[in-house]
Amino acid sequence: MPDVYLTINEADPALLAEIAQGLEARAALPQQIEILETYLGDIEFPDGARVLDVGCGTGAQSRTLINRPDVAEVVGADQARFLLERARELAVGLTGLTFEEASGDDLPFETAAFDVIVAHTVLTHVADPEAVLAELARVVRPGGTLAICDGDFSTMSAAIGDRDPLQACAESFIEHSVNDAWLMRRLPRLVRAAGFTLGRARSYNFIETEDPVTTANWFRRGADGLVKEGRIGSDLAEALKAEITRRAAAGIYFGGMKYDSLICRKPG
Ligand SMILES: C[S@@+](CC[C@H](N)C(=O)[O-])C[C@H]1O[C@@H](n2cnc3c(N)ncnc32)[C@H](O)[C@@H]1O
Repeated sequence: MPDVYLTINEADPALLAEIAQGLEARAALPQQIEILETYLGDIEFPDGARVLDVGCGTGAQSRTLINRPDVAEVVGADQARFLLERARELAVGLTGLTFEEASGDDLPFETAAFDVIVAHTVLTHVADPEAVLAELARVVRPGGTLAICDGDFSTMSAAIGDRDPLQACAESFIEHSVNDAWLMRRLPRLVRAAGFTLGRARSYNFIETEDPVTTANWFRRGADGLVKEGRIGSDLAEALKAEITRRAAAGIYFGGMKYDSLICRKPG
């Protein structure tokens, strides 16, 4: 089954609620806050910056951005109506922050409309990353910045040893929730082809051992995906989920992957 985000507006309401909750829970994790703050620190925001948060989901990064003193306006754009509704609810009372339903490859904004664009865990999910990068190159002003951060999903692991059966849950999650697990390996070439020059690149090791939140939910969804594909029965899926819970309780759980960020500049 392909990445759920490719047809997100047709997804089951229960799954949409789970995704919305999962995005907010991930964004609240200290390791994830550190990743975001680290690469935002690599961006030169002009005073009164106008920022686009493309693929904003429930708007967690949009809310961080509008709270920066150097940012005057943030537009969050996403194709997912349900996530945008949640984003608007969570942003009540924040002035300068608005949300637009839009596809990343066809944005309803003027050319050179933004000083800074942030694409946080988006490009690995889009159907045509080249088309999205070309559109982002259009809407950022000359001299402006595109900051990209995403998971290097090819590194995702649930395993604590050889032939660990939980690794099948990680692989199934990637199959159902990511369009291109290898995108971050090809990103420098893609952004150069879109007309950007490359700035600071960083990698981050995201690991959950104690009280796993995000990776445990990913692997549970992976177990469900194996059932949907008819590869295993529901009894085995429940046993895999119980193993996730057992490892967490026993202090032997591992879940993680590498994230990468890349700062790109549009020549001025
Ligand atoms: C993993 S979520 C990340 C959301 C948010 N940036 C975060 O990190 O919490 C990926 C988001 O990209 C959006 N998305 C995927 N393809 C898109 C496209 N072609 N145009 C606009 N949004 C897209 C999805 O709807 C989803 O909200």
